[in-house]
Amino acid sequence: MENSSSLINIGKKCLIVTGRNSAVSSGALDDVIKIFDANDIEYKIFNEIEPNPLTETCRYAGALASEFVADYILGIGGGSVLDAAKAVAIYCENPHFSHSDIYNRVVPVKHLPVVLIGTTAGTGSEVTGVSVLTSSETGLKKSISGSDCYADIAFCDYSYTKSTNTDVRISTALDALAHSIEAFVASSSNELVELYSERAIKLLSPYILTAKFDNLTDSDFEIIYMASLYAGLAINIAGTCFPHTVGYYLTECHNIPHGKACAAFMPILLEKTKKYCPEKFEAILKIINVDIDLFLSAVKKLSAVKVSFSRKDAEETSLRWKNGVKNFDRSPGGFSYIDAKEALISLIS
Ligand SMILES: [Fe+2]
Repeated sequence: MENSSSLINIGKKCLIVTGRNSAVSSGALDDVIKIFDANDIEYKIFNEIEPNPLTETCRYAGALASEFVADYILGIGGGSVLDAAKAVAIYCENPHFSHSDIYNRVVPVKHLPVVLIGTTAGTGSEVTGVSVLTSSETGLKKSISGSDCYADIAFCDYSYTKSTNTDVRISTALDALAHSIEAFVASSSNELVELYSERAIKLLSPYILTAKFDNLTDSDFEIIYMASLYAGLAINIAGTCFPHTVGYYLTECHNIPHGKACAAFMPILLEKTKKYCPEKFEAILKIINVDIDLFLSAVKKLSAVKVSFSRKDAEETSLRWKNGVKNFDRSPGGFSYIDAKEALISLIS
């Protein structure tokens, strides 16, 4: 690991937070342990972060960090682990926090320093001040954000993304694509967002169009990882649109991986973009440089979302968004809970 001096200068005691697999299979955990052992850094490993991390798990790990008197938190993994590491750092310094308190912070709160090492190319959490957690109280996915949700140091080395399987690569690349397109078309977008998004869409499109996620070269891994970071920088400014909000429901209740769930709503997002922000739609066409139907059919093939809910379920589910959602408001033309119901019904085959 290059620039390891920043890793050893941050403190002498570290709680390493991981999931079950990728920290080990990527070789990142091994690299870190070698550096820690060589530099007398004491560490403990908490390897129980689940996909779509629960606030309860993060609270538990925060208490462990506090008991260990950790100087900092190191998260090694995909988006779930990186997001969880940010929450663990907050819970450690705020042990009185209830499940809802972490969502209700009005000012940045005290937290341990956070170091992140990404092992998937999609989330962008390495570069964002955002963490998506599943509330153990409500079962709902919801993001927290603020200056207390940034990594102090992020090691972004594409070689750690090489041990992912094809399905994970597809889902995480679709997440990065969703980030870049949603940020690009959002009403909160600006020139900088457009630059980041354009770069990400351009880098990702050839892989999406050819469904090339196997037999990747080092250069392919690097390109896709860079795209995920550009896309992360874009959502860090503009946020995401309705596909992320409605996609959370598909993940929470139907176990559909996050990136695939968001990509399922890309046709509706682009349809609305064409209608309400034609100049943005034309700009996207220029970036992808292929017929939109060809592009969307490639996205659909990769996301392959199959759901088993009824029209009545879709109707009932949509009520959770009845009071308005900021992701809906910044979507092209706006988006209502009625639109969300229709979007869900469109997935019923
Ligand atoms: Fe996402």
